[in-house]
Amino acid sequence: MTTRDTIKKQNCEHTLFSWSKQEGLDPAMIERAEGIYLYDFNGKRYIDFSSQLMNVNIGHNHPKVNESIKEQLDKLAYVFPGMGTEPRGELGKKLLDISPFDSGKCFFTTGGADAIENAIKIARVFTGKHKIITKYRSYHGATYGAMSAGGDPRKHPIDNQLMPGIVHVEDPYCYRCPWGQEKESCKKLCLDHVERVIQFQGPQNIAAILIEGESGSSGCIKYPKGYWKGIKALADKYDLLTISDEVMSGFGRCGQWFGVENHDVTPDIIVAAKGLTSGYIPLGAVIVNDSIAKTFDKTPLPAGLTYSAHALACKAGSACIDVYKDEQLIDGVAEKEQYLHEICDDLVQKHAAIGDVRITGLLGCLELVKDRQTKEPLAPWNASADQMGVMNDVAKKIRDRGMHTFVRWNYIFIAPPLTITKEQLKEGMDIISEALELTDFVSKN
Ligand SMILES: Cc1ncc(COP(=O)(O)O)c(C=O)c1O
Repeated sequence: MTTRDTIKKQNCEHTLFSWSKQEGLDPAMIERAEGIYLYDFNGKRYIDFSSQLMNVNIGHNHPKVNESIKEQLDKLAYVFPGMGTEPRGELGKKLLDISPFDSGKCFFTTGGADAIENAIKIARVFTGKHKIITKYRSYHGATYGAMSAGGDPRKHPIDNQLMPGIVHVEDPYCYRCPWGQEKESCKKLCLDHVERVIQFQGPQNIAAILIEGESGSSGCIKYPKGYWKGIKALADKYDLLTISDEVMSGFGRCGQWFGVENHDVTPDIIVAAKGLTSGYIPLGAVIVNDSIAKTFDKTPLPAGLTYSAHALACKAGSACIDVYKDEQLIDGVAEKEQYLHEICDDLVQKHAAIGDVRITGLLGCLELVKDRQTKEPLAPWNASADQMGVMNDVAKKIRDRGMHTFVRWNYIFIAPPLTITKEQLKEGMDIISEALELTDFVSKN
């Protein structure tokens, strides 16, 4: 048995893989990674077209971040969260500096889901109210509260265990508008719907509206112009907080430090993770504005985690923020987005399956259909593996051709590291185009 086979056997026999039936799993066995490429134990190269889980924004194996982590490790890896450390304070300041808040504070967690849990908790304590409004087509993490907050159907198997107090609303899914509106004559009925739900639920019971800064794994459903502003206006009208989940849309992914900045809105709470440390060490953060922060001057914060403000993780976050700034990674996103749109315009001509192209910064998704007129999806929403049809072949082709990205239902995701060059974007999109050839026999204009 080769070393690779032994490692694979150990992985598959002794560990559980997320979200999957374990039988028959065939995970890519990755030995090392560099920039936007991964290399498996057989030396096969994969272009990382989704930054792993849309988190490795600065690319793999960045020497400056590696060095910072090693230096910190030699000084201090960890102390309990009641103690102060240099990286903790440094990262707190850097986060407030890049946040849209004039002042405020951060609470550090270990990732996105527990940051969402704590944001909900803080919103409930601050307002004294309990309900949280969120969208159906959203994902906020897999711990109980976060999973309850999301509408992603991965929660269906644990439906009887969910956290109470979450109220879902329909998304402003313009390609398939729930109210049958056309883009040109849209009357923003999506916002009227949210207002009616607020009234039905009683604003006196609602703590916050929680939505992603920009939509991600639910299909990059772009908010129409004015939507986020409309949400903020409703929150102001009914005295609710707004929480922007920037776990996926933050740290340059959507062309700004935080996705919500694309909409000229300042929320009350920002939830961050993923690109915060680009995956070098796990870390999440809840960033609250000054008035929320001040509440906890007198009221004890009812939150804690053994690894809150982990020194090594904070150092990784601090080093990543330096990389974003020093390499002007976020400034470069708009041009790459533009180039991606140009490539996609060509692909739309070539492949009848592309029904909709939704890209914000370097967070994008192709929505595939059988027929552009009827918009019948190429695989149904929440498709099981055996309902995926040709999408299974597309996914296999993408992997065989040496690309890692997500193919989910009738979506193909495009979210490479921000360090990607135009040539590499073309390289990746050529692979996707080749995979889409498999749909050319199934879909029609
Ligand atoms: C928008 C959003 N929020 C929260 C999470 C949960 O983050 P984590 O997986 O780090 O718990 C995710 C993960 O994909 C996400 O995309």
